[in-house]
Amino acid sequence: MVPLQAYQTPTAFKHGLGALENLADEVKALGLKRPLLVTDQGLVQAGIAGEAGRILKQGGVSFVQFDEVVANPPVALVDRGAQVYREEGCDGLIGLGGGSSMDTAKAIGVVVVHGGSAVDYEWADPNPITKPIPPLIAVPTTAGTGSEATLWAVITDPERHIKFNIGGTPLIAARVALIDPLLTINLPAHVTAGTGMDALAHAIECYTMAYAQAFTDAVALLAMEYVGRYLRVAFAQGHNKEARYKMSMAAMLGGLAYGTDSAGAAHAMSQTAGGVVDAPHGALTARLLGPVMEYNYMGEPEKFARIAQALGEDVQGLSVWEAAEAAVEAVYRLTEDVEIPTMQALGFSEDQIPLLAELASKDPQTVGNPRDIDYDGYVKVYKRAFELGR
Ligand SMILES: [Fe+2]
Repeated sequence: MVPLQAYQTPTAFKHGLGALENLADEVKALGLKRPLLVTDQGLVQAGIAGEAGRILKQGGVSFVQFDEVVANPPVALVDRGAQVYREEGCDGLIGLGGGSSMDTAKAIGVVVVHGGSAVDYEWADPNPITKPIPPLIAVPTTAGTGSEATLWAVITDPERHIKFNIGGTPLIAARVALIDPLLTINLPAHVTAGTGMDALAHAIECYTMAYAQAFTDAVALLAMEYVGRYLRVAFAQGHNKEARYKMSMAAMLGGLAYGTDSAGAAHAMSQTAGGVVDAPHGALTARLLGPVMEYNYMGEPEKFARIAQALGEDVQGLSVWEAAEAAVEAVYRLTEDVEIPTMQALGFSEDQIPLLAELASKDPQTVGNPRDIDYDGYVKVYKRAFELGR
């Protein structure tokens, strides 16, 4: 058999300012009688979980709230959520929040239908996912992770200090992504910055990795354009609805850019490093994206030149090499403009470089990187990332 590239997503993407109001209708359209609302305490305190609850109640939907999600969700949290789902007789899922809530909801779905613990499905080892998760409505409240569109859940094992992926199959995808950019209006600027840069990282990594294909290139390039044009505006004017809308679309497109694959070296680094220090995924990925691009650009100069264009750089009259370097510079500038913390400020120290490089080099997302990379390569990239914080 000839190996084929494929693009498949079972998710319906529904978006609009105020889209949350449609939550009960979407639940009923899926035939759900008692969904588990998976969310976190931050959203409870911000009143967004309460608002979702009000909409469900007014629509006559009975639901169970599981609001224990934390950043970098651990295995035990997923397993507890699955237990609550079973005990309460739930028949579907709503993932309301950033990537952590949506990923937790997906992983709960995997455990509920397959049994065991979330850890049994780590990169499909030992157990592959063979059955669809219960119907899931993903409602993102940040604009970055794109989990509403991806076929992955990222889960942390605190005992082994690692993060791992579950999924890589449409069986784990949300049935509906209900995207309401108004939910991002009150995000603090530093969250806007980190999550927005994460969306950019998804787009750039998926565009430059060996698995790229026409579908993923198309959505990745538009995601880059939106981030290049609107992230600074959303950072500077949190209330700007156009900027928020475009950033929500950028996050969705960045998630779609994965296709059925995972990300690249920046994510191999940020996910493994995020298991060592409990740092926010977006900010950490953002801090590593520039150094990874600086390392990678010589492998795919035309693609990096095209990234520069998508980010709004003037590449007229530049050679392909100059344009490719302009993409790296543009990302470094954006990283500084939206005030992404340094590696040091995120809680890392330079003496951790050998450990971090070792972990990254073992991450499966390294395969297909635009430039060959091994332990030594990761040491080089990490050294550069720390240098920028001195
Ligand atoms: Fe990410």
